[in-house]
Amino acid sequence: MAMEDKVVAITGASSGIGEATALLLAERGARLVLGARRSDRLADVVARIEKTGGTAVHTRTDVTRREDLHALVALARERYGRLDVLVSNAGAGPISPLDDLRVDEWDEMVDVNVKGVLHGIAAALPVFREQRSGHFVTTASTAAFSVVPSMAVYAGTKVAVRAICEGLRQEAGASVRVTTVFPGFVHTGFAEASSNGAVRERVAGLRDEIAIPPDAIARAVAFALEQPADVDVNEVVVRPTAQG
Ligand SMILES: NC(=O)c1ccc[n+]([C@@H]2O[C@H](COP(=O)([O-])OP(=O)(O)OC[C@H]3O[C@@H](n4cnc5c(N)ncnc54)[C@H](OP(=O)(O)O)[C@@H]3O)[C@@H](O)[C@H]2O)c1
Repeated sequence: MAMEDKVVAITGASSGIGEATALLLAERGARLVLGARRSDRLADVVARIEKTGGTAVHTRTDVTRREDLHALVALARERYGRLDVLVSNAGAGPISPLDDLRVDEWDEMVDVNVKGVLHGIAAALPVFREQRSGHFVTTASTAAFSVVPSMAVYAGTKVAVRAICEGLRQEAGASVRVTTVFPGFVHTGFAEASSNGAVRERVAGLRDEIAIPPDAIARAVAFALEQPADVDVNEVVVRPTAQG
């Protein structure tokens, strides 16, 4: 099976990398199930996909709620009879120095970036086992490889995501594929997530200088999906050439 007719669920599909991935995969023939908290934005993405002849549905999904991931997977099976790919892309990045003690934001990053991914695995793995096929694609970050000031907690969550996905790959067996994508600086609203004004200004400035468009990450996801079933693209790093 190439892309045509694959059933792909994407979390964090309401903007940025998730939105770009939804649009590209739909253009290449996949059937989409889109999740995020902002339903109005999801409805807009679905409308744009349908306008160009694609197929997509959406449901409000908060990845910190285990039951929402089960509902996302259930919607795929109800509408299309199966789930071929789960793209766990939702992420939170309110970065700040540890001295700020923005502990609620630390919680949010752990809950969305780490537990959100685990909730997706818990919902999709039994389905992939039953189908004897499936593909986990997870958006990590180059922060998993290099920690810089203000990014300790965020980088910690992405290191955890890398470890979880590698463990998943080792346990997955021959019928389930596991791909982790590590974007560098991508031009999305993510740079404005910090509630520390100085950090936000610095990161947004750097983004406007060097970031690459979200479509660059979408193409990497498509590449992994389009490989033959026995080819598992495990780790893909996509960063701006200008990123150190
Ligand atoms: N931009 C970068 O430079 C960069 C670099 C490396 C990695 N990443 C990773 O890329 C992924 C996507 O980020 P982005 O850059 O595309 O930024 P973005 O446009 O802000 O997208 C973040 C997405 O995550 C969703 N989200 C946040 N909390 C959620 C929750 N509790 N439940 C469900 N969805 C939630 C948001 O949707 P709602 O608000 O509608 O729920 C949104 O669709 C993240 O995992 C991020 O860590 C980004």
